[in-house]
Formats: sequence, C-alpha cells, structure tokens
Amino acid sequence: MPTPYGGSYLRCMWLRILALVYDPFLWLGEHRGMRRRRSTLLEDAVGRVVEIGAGTGLNVEHYPDAVADLVLVEPDPAMRRRLAHRLRRRTRAGRIVDSPAEHLPLPDASVDTVVSTLVLCTVDEPERALREIARVLRPDGQLLFIEHVRASSRFLAACQDHLFEPWRRFAGGCRCNRPTVELMRVCGFEVTADNVEWRGMPAIVRPLVVGRATLVTAG
Ligand SMILES: C[S@@+](CC[C@H](N)C(=O)[O-])C[C@H]1O[C@@H](n2cnc3c(N)ncnc32)[C@H](O)[C@@H]1O
Repeated sequence: MPTPYGGSYLRCMWLRILALVYDPFLWLGEHRGMRRRRSTLLEDAVGRVVEIGAGTGLNVEHYPDAVADLVLVEPDPAMRRRLAHRLRRRTRAGRIVDSPAEHLPLPDASVDTVVSTLVLCTVDEPERALREIARVLRPDGQLLFIEHVRASSRFLAACQDHLFEPWRRFAGGCRCNRPTVELMRVCGFEVTADNVEWRGMPAIVRPLVVGRATLVTAG
C-alpha cells in the first residue's frame, strides 16, 4: 500500500508524532526570540507569497496586510492537518497545497515572495528546491528565510557531522550540517543574512541565518 510521499510505515508514524509534538518542542525557542524573529522577517512579505514547508503554520499570524495571496506548501499530511486547523482559527485567508519545494505547481515568474523557515535543512534536494524557487520568483522577487546552518565553529561543525544521522532520523529528515547560504549562492541568489543564536534549542541547530535572497540578474 502506498504511504504519504513515499516513506516506510515506521517513518510515516514518526512524522505523525512529530507533527503532534512540533509546537510544544519549539515552544521555548519561540518564546525566547523565534516568534519575534518570524514577525520581523515577515513584515517584508508582499504581493503573492508562497511559503514552502509551512508545517503547523507558526508563521501564519505574522503575515501583514500587504500579502495579497498566500499559498502554503506542505508535503506532509499530518503537518497539513494542523496547518489547516491553525488557518481556520485565524482570519487570514490562505490556500494549502500538497507539494514538495522541489516541484512547485506554479507558473514561472509568478511569485513576489517565497518564505522558508527551518525548511531548506529538511528538503531532500535543496539545490533543486532553490532552483524551483528561482523559477517561480518574479525577477524582482525575494526569498525571505530563517534557516539553521552548518556551524562555523570547527568543534560544533564536527558535532553536527557526528550526530548527523541520529538527528536526521529524530527530526524528520533535518540535516543539521547543511551549508544553506552557500547553496543559495550556487543556485543564483544574492544573499543578505545575519547569523543569530536560536535560543532555547539544542546547540546542534546553531547558528540560525536570517535574511533575504534575491535573484542575480544577468549582465
Ligand atoms: C522543521 S519543519 C518547519 C516548519 C515551519 N516552516 C516552521 O517554521 O515551523 C520542516 C517542514 O518542512 C517540511 N518538508 C519536508 N520536506 C519538504 C520538501 N521536500 N518540500 C517542502 N517542505 C518539506 C516538513 O514536512 C516540515 O513541515
């Protein structure tokens, strides 16, 4: 029997549990700065917005009125159920789409803002996802992001390498040592980002990069 987006039954059951415990697991981090960080980042969201890997919808309450159309992309069915529940409780309208970031069902150059918070660590094919984001963005569009990335401290990076596999299994596919900003540049983005600490979360998911990426125009 097929399972949601191709996983084993054990993995699917674990993903259902993760969706249940996701908000409580992040609670401390949200209260120690992450919630404010989401809000500040999303002040710049405008026009047609596509959020990839929207999860349980922790960003939903922060979208400003300048957002004309909100598309929330999420491939995990358990996450989508919680996302739909959160969207119903808020006044903000949004459309939930079942899709991975690697295959966005959207026309070329049709999106003003793509949002990715804590997602590019988890997608299976980050370069493919970034090229897909570049495809759907208008030439003057933007990618707003908060991502945890490979540490610059040699000690912490070595811990991330060492704990990569157990963490990936525990955290639903999260790769704690991924150099996401470098990947953005490789995929044709110009990136402005700050490194900050994700307070209230394990050191393995530090640092966070918070910023904006735009398409490098030829010539
Ligand atoms: C750590 S959660 C982040 C959720 C939310 N963005 C947030 O800020 O709380 C990672 C999310 O990425 C989703 N995800 C996993 N693989 C994905 C893919 N290939 N494309 C898009 N989203 C994906 C997961 O289902 C999960 O909801």
